[in-house]
Amino acid sequence: MSRRIEPRVDNEAIGHAARLLCAGALVAFPTETVYGLGADATDDPAVARIFAAKGRPRFNPLIVHVPDLDAAAALVRLDERARTLAARFWPGPLTLVLPRCTDARVSLLVSAGLDTVAIRAPDHPVAQALLAAAGRPIAAPSANVSGRISPTTAAHVRTELGDRVAAVLDGGPCRVGLESTVLDLSGRVPTLLRPGAISSEILEAMLGRLASPTDAGAPRSPGMLRRHYAPRRPLRLDATAVGPAEALLGFGPETADCTLSLSPRGDLVEAAGNLFAMLRALDAAEGFSSIAVARIPEHELGRAINDRLRRAAAPAEDSTAWNDDRGPAAPCVLPGWEDDDSATG
Ligand code: TXA
Ligand code: MG
Repeated sequence: MSRRIEPRVDNEAIGHAARLLCAGALVAFPTETVYGLGADATDDPAVARIFAAKGRPRFNPLIVHVPDLDAAAALVRLDERARTLAARFWPGPLTLVLPRCTDARVSLLVSAGLDTVAIRAPDHPVAQALLAAAGRPIAAPSANVSGRISPTTAAHVRTELGDRVAAVLDGGPCRVGLESTVLDLSGRVPTLLRPGAISSEILEAMLGRLASPTDAGAPRSPGMLRRHYAPRRPLRLDATAVGPAEALLGFGPETADCTLSLSPRGDLVEAAGNLFAMLRALDAAEGFSSIAVARIPEHELGRAINDRLRRAAAPAEDSTAWNDDRGPAAPCVLPGWEDDDSATG
């Protein structure tokens, strides 16, 4: 079994990765948002391997990747809102949480005990080629160890997961750099579970007011931990000055003297693209013991950047806390699940 980065993403590399996937192995691949840790979504042991490789809590469901709306229709019940959004934003960085079809050919483990499936069509030629070659839906969380910074290059995936992934398809740095917007459409009121590149402003213009998971009666997001996306070094937000042994992650012309700048000209799209790679770089840079981050405006992509930064800065004791107080859904356990440790070998 190959354990190297596939440097040339040609048909041969895609075919090889697809065969590995169909044989139950884990394959990391680029999407426009972040790199995903993919498994055949129809294969219970393969999906179980994702949880083991990431150290991911079993109550945290996975996004299923499909080529398009037709493929989604075989797995989830699409209402008018979902069809309209998918027609406008797919392929693209929008994940829809929808009721699962009773005959959906996808592992129950992806839903982690819920009656919904999160689904999206990725906008990356390598991801689309892999989906086409595999001919089946691909379950894929971000390809990082649970709770840590999401990978935006193939090298990040290798550093993070090493031999726990059978192959890494190298499609270069991810265009968006932040994970997809997650919108729950399983109830009457659409609920924004995770902000992303498809902004709440755009979604509210189409759908009206969005609920948040903290609203009474709104759907919850079982995997949304208060501490997530975290570097090892402590992170301080809204910094206007830098302390001793602190690295400054700047934004805009006011922080021209910073260690690294998310965007010297104050561009939110550029900042999102740089965020995770720069957090990783400052976490590893010599001569610093902590990281300060300049204030990021709270609108459009800035909301998604601030969401990731707040979770990255949350105290370590919050790493198992919920973004509401209702606790986890019962995880879905299938026969053989407890015994499956093959991913760590
Ligand atoms: O951009 C992305 O979304 C990337 C790329 C690889 O597609 N994937 C990604 O997956 O970020 P992950 O697992 O790191 O984040 C998925 C989020 C988690 O917060 C999870 O709890 C939530 O989506 N989620 C998945 N299925 C869900 C469901 N059925 N109901 C509610 N939330 C769900
Ligand atoms: Mg993730």
